[in-house]
Amino acid sequence: MSEPAPKKRLYIKTYGCQMNVYDSERMADVLAPLGYGMTDDAAGADLVVLNTCHIRERATEKVYSELGKIRELKEARAEAGGRMTIAVAGCVAQAEGAEIMRRQPAVDLVVGPQAYHQIPELIARSHRARGERLAADFAPDEKFDALTPERRPTGVTAFLTVQEGCDKFCSFCVVPYTRGAEWSRPAGDIEAEARSLAEKGVREVTLLGQNVNAYDGVGGLAALVRRLAKIPGLDRIRYTTSHPRDMDAALIAAHAEVAELMPYLQLPVQSGSDRILKAMNRAHTAQSYLRLIERVRAARPDIAISGDFIVGFPGERDADFEATMQLVREVGYASAFSFKYSRRPGTPAAAMPGQVAEAVKGERLQRLQTLLDDQQRAFNARQVGRTLDVLFERVGRNPGQLIGRSPYLQGVHANAPDRLIGQIVPVRIDGAAKNSLAGMLELETA
Ligand code: 5AD
Ligand code: SF4
Repeated sequence: MSEPAPKKRLYIKTYGCQMNVYDSERMADVLAPLGYGMTDDAAGADLVVLNTCHIRERATEKVYSELGKIRELKEARAEAGGRMTIAVAGCVAQAEGAEIMRRQPAVDLVVGPQAYHQIPELIARSHRARGERLAADFAPDEKFDALTPERRPTGVTAFLTVQEGCDKFCSFCVVPYTRGAEWSRPAGDIEAEARSLAEKGVREVTLLGQNVNAYDGVGGLAALVRRLAKIPGLDRIRYTTSHPRDMDAALIAAHAEVAELMPYLQLPVQSGSDRILKAMNRAHTAQSYLRLIERVRAARPDIAISGDFIVGFPGERDADFEATMQLVREVGYASAFSFKYSRRPGTPAAAMPGQVAEAVKGERLQRLQTLLDDQQRAFNARQVGRTLDVLFERVGRNPGQLIGRSPYLQGVHANAPDRLIGQIVPVRIDGAAKNSLAGMLELETA
């Protein structure tokens, strides 16, 4: 049976982390039965959803400037006799709530990350022009119960949210306020969703959570990984993002023992200075982090380590920043995300003395990123001459080329026939740049 053609057009713009990418897909799933089909063209959309990020000030401001543009499209649409509904979702929705509609009256509804199942109802209410147009409660169990395990994956890899929220209260971070307390989905529900994805051709899942390794089902994240690894067709499992505090022995052992668990670990450290780590309320030291990395590498020597860094946290002196540089040299990262500290109202760090000048933050960030970029290039260059298993995901820009990922999450280009999309294929790596590798199929698969 073919599906009826969508009558209404849905445009979703996603900001921020992978959890938002997952949520955007689920919103599209919830709206599909109402006749909404996806479009890339905001101007022609009946419903525009901005799925927003609140983590740094710039991320939040981007949303308001985008809303200004969407408002013009909405007005043009109304002049032509049409109607556009604008919804703001995500963490800005959670944090600012009705304030968004005051600041940008063109917004029709505001929906927090735990209320996406209520979107159809909110749209109906906004069209009746009365009733509540704001849903920002914390009730993750209701959200996931209402979003069925039936998804329409768009490729051979998929995100799968297993945990939401954060209780760590790092002093710089808004997440504990916008995403609420740590909450884990039941393992059975996660398995059902993973099975359904695998049956539809998904070969790799990335388990998502703000604190994914705090997953508190029986046996923790390690047991969940082992359970999912048994699903036929699901050949690769990844997870992100982890906190050093929750990196337990069982999860480290899984890296040694579970072939499906990919050799990649995103383990943010934020700073290499113990004084700053304490002020950040990180509950680890530079040494304890380094020891953890050693244990992970003992289990899986080739593992690619990735991290998050903040420079210019209040009170950060030159010596603190040098300690971060030293830690980076000791770890040797395969990739990393680094940011200037951004003052977030309501977080403890926003009120701390010793806020660092923008220019100093900028210089430090540049030095750190130069070092991290060099390490990334070096990590990639070390793959040249090796044969890596590549999961091909899509066609490349050049004719005859496919793009996939190595076990270490590097993008890999190779000339290969389209039929290999969705296959895991050995590729001999013969070139490396900062952001990707190039290779050739081994003869027997070509
Ligand atoms: N300023 C700068 N970076 C931040 N992050 C979180 N909060 C802030 C902030 N206030 C960074 C951290 C975190 C990543 C998701 O974003 O490095 O790990
Ligand atoms: Fe934010 Fe810290 Fe929680 Fe990560 S662990 S989401 S940085 S509070």
